[in-house]
Amino acid sequence: MLKIGVLASGRGSNFQSILDRIESGFIKAEIAILITDKPDAYAIERAKNHGIESLVMQPRDFDGKNLYYGAIASELKKRGVGLVVLAGFMRVVGKGLIDSYPNKIMNIHPALLPSFPGLHGQRDAVDYGVKVSGCTVHFVDEGVDTGPIIAQAAVPCHDDDTEDTLSARILKKEHEIYPLAIKLFSEGMISLDGRTVRLKCSKPDGTLMNPAEG
Ligand code: GRF
Repeated sequence: MLKIGVLASGRGSNFQSILDRIESGFIKAEIAILITDKPDAYAIERAKNHGIESLVMQPRDFDGKNLYYGAIASELKKRGVGLVVLAGFMRVVGKGLIDSYPNKIMNIHPALLPSFPGLHGQRDAVDYGVKVSGCTVHFVDEGVDTGPIIAQAAVPCHDDDTEDTLSARILKKEHEIYPLAIKLFSEGMISLDGRTVRLKCSKPDGTLMNPAEG
């Protein structure tokens, strides 16, 4: 069974949505470890509640970014992790980890990439005045939110939206498409053609299912 390593920095609601979907049997995988860069991350409580090992690893305890991400990679490898899931991990992941898990690290971003990458996807969408935004699950490469797109879901943006109201609407969709993308990965349904992700799951009429459709 696929072993997943989760990296999170904060409240961990995406982590929770994945835990719940594993416990319900929707995703057939196991979370082997939570690694966090913040000792006070609420995600640690969530791990405890589900009997999952957690480790705090902070960059300041390592001599540079390469050694930090190399150490994370070796903790993951030690536990047989086959998929790394970034769930609100607020750092740009370094080569030391990416090279150990090529196209095996996923992230969720709260905007429809390639629009509004970076730390403030929801605020940037509100400020820009877009009518539609959403969230994107993608593989992680060395850029900031630039890797191959696995799944996207859209939500409307209203005239009176604030960063908070839009974030809440997007978050609900995050909790749907992230577990779905992980399920597809765990079942070997995802392959890459250049930077295009192909989903090997078809509808009865032979067309490909869009994971955002559930
Ligand atoms: C989410 O909005 C996610 O898209 C972004 O960071 C936030 C994490 O939230 N990458 P949570 O910790 O999963 O609740």
